[in-house]
Amino acid sequence: MNILVTGGAGYIGSHACKALAKAGFTPITFDNLSTGWRDAVKFGPFVEGDLTDRASIDRAFEAHDPKAILHFAALSRVDEAMSNPGLYWRNNVLGSLNLIEAATDHNCLDFVFSSTCATYGDQDNVVLDETTAQMPLNAYGASKQAVERILHDFGVTHGLRRVIFRYFNVAGADPEAEVGEFHRPETHLIPIVLDAVAGVRDGVTIYGTDYPTKDGTCIRDYVHVSDLVDAHVLGLRWLLDGKGSRVFNLGTGSGFSVREVIDSARRVTNRDVPTTIGDRRAGDAIKLVSGSKRAEDELQWQPQKSTMPQMIEDAWRWHQVADYRE
Ligand code: UFG
Repeated sequence: MNILVTGGAGYIGSHACKALAKAGFTPITFDNLSTGWRDAVKFGPFVEGDLTDRASIDRAFEAHDPKAILHFAALSRVDEAMSNPGLYWRNNVLGSLNLIEAATDHNCLDFVFSSTCATYGDQDNVVLDETTAQMPLNAYGASKQAVERILHDFGVTHGLRRVIFRYFNVAGADPEAEVGEFHRPETHLIPIVLDAVAGVRDGVTIYGTDYPTKDGTCIRDYVHVSDLVDAHVLGLRWLLDGKGSRVFNLGTGSGFSVREVIDSARRVTNRDVPTTIGDRRAGDAIKLVSGSKRAEDELQWQPQKSTMPQMIEDAWRWHQVADYRE
């Protein structure tokens, strides 16, 4: 069964393609290669196209007749969204609207969407569950929340069935290092720390040490990318089994501060990580920790690899053996 995977050349999308192929599906990657890599498309056909170009989406449907969609493609940098909100509204919302309209026009009505815990904003000391009010702090989170709403409306009118996953912080890499995380520029904490370990950069700037947390740095809930994409296969099966539309948080319920992540990287790699203290980064929430009980209870999702040492170990293995350097 063909599954259209937008953003299949990106970090999470490429891991999802591997998981889909392993589960017996054929992933059709649709990607504009703006932040993804051609070399990451290893598990099925590739269609180069852009979601803001409706005709290129139609061509992918006509060529491959997908039965369902996993929609990963999006811009996802909070700093960029803060400096250029229009880019986020245009790319993430208009691109998704084109895809959703194409899906309903082609009668492809099972849709898995990558949303984010950034839609919740900053809610003091709350463990966030799917019923928590969404109050995004930035255009990135707001654009994802808007797409959730569009999906809802197309569900009501056109019968679109959707599973929405709100991710917490995705980390790690394929334990077999066939695919991994590679952004240019890199803005995410763990790959930056590993660049510092490898000597590719001088050190890590900690963005703020005056937050009201145990050590003054921001807290995030990190989930292993392999566990995250396993949830997508379960979500796809959920839809194909006719279980209807549902929202699931994907995190582990454990929060790690920036300093704890850096300390863990020091222990796993047995190398130093020089740090400097910088200003707060605009748009950052203080603490984002998931309640993922619903995914565990209803999808029978069981994170297997989402411990901090394992995520850093797998990311470090990937960092050493492979990337998509041109
Ligand atoms: N951080 C640093 N120094 C760095 C990089 C990051 O101190 O060089 C800090 C950030 O300020 C933040 C934490 O490390 O407190 C994690 O930052 P990331 O950039 O790795 O991740 P974010 O939490 O900002 O963003 C990620 C995804 C988003 C998603 C968001 C939800 O990139 O797509 O998680 O929290 F929306």
